[in-house]
Amino acid sequence: MTDAHRSDIESGLIENRTFAPSANWTSAGPGAEPVTPHIASMEQYREMYERSLSDPEGFWGDAAKELHWFAPWTKVLEWSAPDAKWFVGGKTNLSYNCIDRHIESGHGDDVAIIWEGEPMDGGPEIKRLTYRDLHTEVCKFANVLKSLGVKKGDVVTIYMPMVPELAIAVLACARIGAPHSVIFGGFSANAITDRVVDANSKVLITADGGWRRGSIVPLKENVDAACTQCDTLDHVVVVQRCGANIAWHHEPSNAHGKKRDHWWHDLMQAASADCPAEPMDAEDPLFVLYTSGTTGKPKGIMHTTGGYMVYTYLTSKYVFDLHPDANQVYWCTADIGWITGHSYIVYGVMPNRVPTLMYEGAPNHPTPDRFWSIVERHKVTQFYTAPTAIRAFMKWGDNHPRKHNLQSLRLLGTVGEPINPEAWMWYHRIIGHEKCPIVDTWWQTETAGHMITPLPAVTSTKPGSCTLPFFGVDAAIVSEDGVEQPNNTGGLLAIRKPWPGMLRGILGDRERFIETYWSRIKDASGEPYYFPGDGARRDADGFFWIMGRVDDVINVSGHRLGTMEVESALVSHEAVVEAAVVGMPHEIKGTGIAAFVTLGPGFDADEDLRTKLREHVGKEIGAIAKPDQIRFTDALPKTRSGKIMRRLLRDIAAGVEKVGDTTTLEDYTVLAKIRESKE
Ligand code: WT7
Repeated sequence: MTDAHRSDIESGLIENRTFAPSANWTSAGPGAEPVTPHIASMEQYREMYERSLSDPEGFWGDAAKELHWFAPWTKVLEWSAPDAKWFVGGKTNLSYNCIDRHIESGHGDDVAIIWEGEPMDGGPEIKRLTYRDLHTEVCKFANVLKSLGVKKGDVVTIYMPMVPELAIAVLACARIGAPHSVIFGGFSANAITDRVVDANSKVLITADGGWRRGSIVPLKENVDAACTQCDTLDHVVVVQRCGANIAWHHEPSNAHGKKRDHWWHDLMQAASADCPAEPMDAEDPLFVLYTSGTTGKPKGIMHTTGGYMVYTYLTSKYVFDLHPDANQVYWCTADIGWITGHSYIVYGVMPNRVPTLMYEGAPNHPTPDRFWSIVERHKVTQFYTAPTAIRAFMKWGDNHPRKHNLQSLRLLGTVGEPINPEAWMWYHRIIGHEKCPIVDTWWQTETAGHMITPLPAVTSTKPGSCTLPFFGVDAAIVSEDGVEQPNNTGGLLAIRKPWPGMLRGILGDRERFIETYWSRIKDASGEPYYFPGDGARRDADGFFWIMGRVDDVINVSGHRLGTMEVESALVSHEAVVEAAVVGMPHEIKGTGIAAFVTLGPGFDADEDLRTKLREHVGKEIGAIAKPDQIRFTDALPKTRSGKIMRRLLRDIAAGVEKVGDTTTLEDYTVLAKIRESKE
């Protein structure tokens, strides 16, 4: 929780309340027979939780048996910190578990994906794909990938808008064992280059463009620009979505003599719909997903097949209370380009055989009630979004949700950043009509799935707390030396045991993997704990309260950014000599970006340069990284050893009158000057 948010409680704006679960809650959709929640009581949670820690192999072995395996595992877990192998020797396929399994059980004509496009002229464009439709498309595209030379183990890069072809592409990769690397469509050409090169990817899937707030995001143009910086790509497959005017490259830049650009629809026309799912080893890689860390370079988080599948399946089932045949429609508003979309639009949800909704565009296009019109139109039962979106809805006004019938909603979820109690209460009252349990789910790209979260209608909820650990998660608040902290004492959040969804590494950087996650906290015997980078506290009921990152990572609108990444982008501009970036409280984004910039000689510190620097960062990283505040300053506050004192900058950016301890500051006059600097 940021200080601003904590003050919601302290100022008495929000009472510090506990919401007891409602006994007659059902997650069944309108008109369906009520269903009993998978976890029906707190006693059941406690019993299962105890077992999951004392007998993890028994617990996770049973969970895995709910899914399809081509060959069983010989051992559930092999653990030698920091390396875990789950379901050793087991063979499975995630695309098979998302699709084929349901056709085989007689549900081929059930709806798998509901998709709604952004443009609204003459009503929304809606597509519904059954498991059978999806099977055909995924098999065809898997054959397309093979025809382009993609083999098991080759990384396929995906840079697409939220269209059904995106889900089809990831499932096709999973089907043939080609790990995908999905890049969020809001990232820039440079971000594509870095990721394509790091993963040595030869094939990239994109679209001519994607719709966002009525405009076309020039995806293909960004890919073309990225291709001028790297020569690893042999093939670019292009979905025609917007009819955008795009350049076409017949030859690849690496002159391998192959044709570079291909239309998706041309390749699909020629492809066969017969492509049996490849039996994958449980520990074969499923995907790599880049996320920001404390250095300037994003890291490729690696997840493997079996553990990821079981973990995202089981968390989806219990946390969202998914039931097939109960008229549920599940909607997660994230983009598949983030881990939330990987795990909770596609991979965890689909094996549960509940339709998953994908929406292409912005929440306020053409009007600020777009999300609520989607909920009403598709009778959404479970709705999962980010606190930043909720704060935006609050600002846009209650009249927008009030225009729509939201009675289908049964459960609300949040993810990505701490939710301030005021936003929690608004969500509860205005969207949930005080009838829907809220699941505030704490987790990360690295954890694959929910780690600390309520179970709906079982766990009591407190606005702002992500409550209790999920099965198998041994979470604790510890000091720097690994000692568990008493209640209500802030400390580092640590995970003391392996769990099936845990990351298996950082692509090509073993050292960084160990250093980032497994070096900071150890138990008395020297056994490392997993360190997620968050600070937290636990209250007298054992509930967790996340206090935010304790490293140089900031969480902007639920998206992770490294301060150093933004600094590198700023100093790559000719006018900038030095830059320091810190987070600052922001009404909608939770955390905004404040940049302190020192200019080289001959550059004017004016509004024009400020705009140019913002644009520059947007071009280097993506629009989400554009600083909210840029202050020009003659120098940055440093310690005698030359370290930038970010703590002071954070205070200044937040407008704190009395900044913290300055005794280690090298030059006091710097501080006074920065205070005078204008935003
Ligand atoms: C970081 C992970 C999880 C998918 C989206 C973000 C913060 C995430 C919560 C929450 C408080 C949260 C943490 C975490 N975070 N969920 N419910 N309450 N903080 O994934 O980009 O990997 O970022 O987001 O700081 O470490 P990510």
